[in-house]
Amino acid sequence: MTRKRVGVLISGRGSNMEALVAASRRTEAPFEIALVLSNNPDAAGLGVAADAGITTVAIDHRPYRSDRAAHEMAIAHRLDAAGVEIVCLAGYMRLLTPLLVGRYAGRMLNIHPSLLPSFPGLHTHARAIEAGVKLHGCTVHLVTESMDEGPILAQAAVPVLLSDDEDSLAARVLAQEHLLYADTLALFAQDRPGRADPTASLRNPLPEAARPS
Ligand code: GRF
Repeated sequence: MTRKRVGVLISGRGSNMEALVAASRRTEAPFEIALVLSNNPDAAGLGVAADAGITTVAIDHRPYRSDRAAHEMAIAHRLDAAGVEIVCLAGYMRLLTPLLVGRYAGRMLNIHPSLLPSFPGLHTHARAIEAGVKLHGCTVHLVTESMDEGPILAQAAVPVLLSDDEDSLAARVLAQEHLLYADTLALFAQDRPGRADPTASLRNPLPEAARPS
């Protein structure tokens, strides 16, 4: 099987990237991680990727100042040089311009820690608790020019418990992010996009107290 070459863009911890690397090493994985790139030279995820034997690149955005297009052009050159076919944003904390979005239109994915279209943007877990929603979760979507608004590829739901605070909810959502992103990318790399994740609810049972009797 020819594996699709994936470039992962990160800015920090890189736990989703790590999950994608682990998934890429399964025997039947339809993708490989060709490159991990960060706008933040100090991103912890760069060390994690390097330790896993993945090629890493840091392209610091700061010297580019307000010239976002020039920064993105430098990123695009590295992605293209690595033969990247699919770009995965994984905690990449820069707003993208039409330059990069347009170049990878239809082949750039993002993971967002909420059930979009609810709670786009930052601090999703605190906002979910504040709003009193009973279901929260994560979304993998295609990237378009509007932040957190591209077509949804898959979602996983997480119940919000009365005992939850921001950290406990974030931890349960993050565990689902790792599963969902890897599964969705595997489908996408086989040109089977847009499928809902049929196993999400099985992996993510309701707590006993919330189950129907
Ligand atoms: C994740 O919650 C992701 O959904 C969001 O930023 C966080 C990145 O975490 N976009 P990590 O760097 O993948 O650990």
